[in-house]
Amino acid sequence: KEKYRYVNSLLRERLPLWLYDRFKEFGTIGDELGMGVYVVGGFVRDLLLREDNFDVDIVVEGDGVKFAQILKERYGAKISPHEKFKTAQVVFKDGFRLDVATARLEYYEYPAAMPTVSISSLKLDLYRRDFTINTLAIKLNSKEFGLLIDFFGGQRDLKDKCIRVLHSLSFVEDPTRVFRAVRFEQRFGFQIGKHTLRLIKNARRLNIFDKLTGKRLFTELKLILDDRDPEAALLRLKDLDLLEVIHKDLKLTEVVLDRIRAAKGVLSWYELLFKPQKPRQWLLFLLNLVSEFSSRSIKGLCQRLDLTGKNEVLFTKLREEAIKVASILDRESDVRPSKVYRLLRPLPLEHQLFCMCLGKTHVPKKEISRFITEYQDIRPHLKGNDLKSLGIPPGPIYSEILEKLRDARLDGEVETRDDEIDFVQRRWKFSGDPQRL
Ligand code: CTP
Repeated sequence: KEKYRYVNSLLRERLPLWLYDRFKEFGTIGDELGMGVYVVGGFVRDLLLREDNFDVDIVVEGDGVKFAQILKERYGAKISPHEKFKTAQVVFKDGFRLDVATARLEYYEYPAAMPTVSISSLKLDLYRRDFTINTLAIKLNSKEFGLLIDFFGGQRDLKDKCIRVLHSLSFVEDPTRVFRAVRFEQRFGFQIGKHTLRLIKNARRLNIFDKLTGKRLFTELKLILDDRDPEAALLRLKDLDLLEVIHKDLKLTEVVLDRIRAAKGVLSWYELLFKPQKPRQWLLFLLNLVSEFSSRSIKGLCQRLDLTGKNEVLFTKLREEAIKVASILDRESDVRPSKVYRLLRPLPLEHQLFCMCLGKTHVPKKEISRFITEYQDIRPHLKGNDLKSLGIPPGPIYSEILEKLRDARLDGEVETRDDEIDFVQRRWKFSGDPQRL
């Protein structure tokens, strides 16, 4: 039976005031337009779980585009409407964004299992979603502001910590939901329900994943690897025989698991450096996950995930470079900082961190961490202007000199500004040719 209760106080307690006020205003706009306005889905789920989430999805009973247009008029928000589906993306002046959708009766085919009478359009909209925990809605219209609407037992499943689909064809309709089930299960420490688990196993047997495009599969994989506990999620995927869906060579061997754990460690270490550049977590995990792949398997993976351009380079050329760098560092115990710099500088941050995970000796870890914390920020004291004052004719030679200076500083051959001037002058004299330093 549907359960009604108000969650106003939860909204007030959990939301920043600006968002709470905005919700109130959305409700008032709905009143004026004579449309029901609801916040739905992951936002409501996370509100009840007391998890921060400001990804707001609004469903309007009426016309979502019209609703968005009012937001544009009143708040100067930018909107990207999609007339055909009656949806709109809204971006407010302060950068806050939300999605508006329309719940419209005429657009739905009635699912066979549902009686065709007395179903609200909102209920049908929610019925089309993936799991019960994502079907909760909160009404925003002023008369019933804060009313929690729970058609499908979402509250019960949140309480039972259970991931359940709404109907048996859910995974056939959208195979990505299998990965979403694992992601939510691991994120919240929930359990996939018994029936839902059976449906996943059926889906696996029926090979419904062949229809899944590379793009969508890649998106789901990234989301899993960007989530709270990728290791647990990967183990669960293995458990459900789903890793093979991504690539037949994806195996969680001890080596791979060790690297995944190493990646976790490296990420926490890096986070504590409070650097402005944040690594793409999914990329580091995926590099480690396929670290034992042959180049043939990599090719297969790129094809399956439809990786092209920059994304493909990350897993082909740059991956090979990183593996090479790690093995060079493993072989050299006393490597010069300038060499470390030269080896690592061309690699993206994630590949640098990947090298740390790959290292068999302690050298790569030590050297790469020094590169990240010290070497990479080191610049010579002297600038182009200083070289000019030293009487060196400007030209491409400048960048060469500055690089040599940087190397010398990295390797401790020079330290102060005077050391650098001395370094340049000695070389200048040594060369004796002002044109060819
Ligand atoms: N949805 C679905 N089937 C999918 C993807 C999404 O039914 N394959 C529905 C879910 O009801 C979900 C909503 O669309 O709540 C919004 O999707 P999304 O933003 O991807 O998910 P969230 O639930 O907000 O999850 P997250 O916290 O990961 O963003």
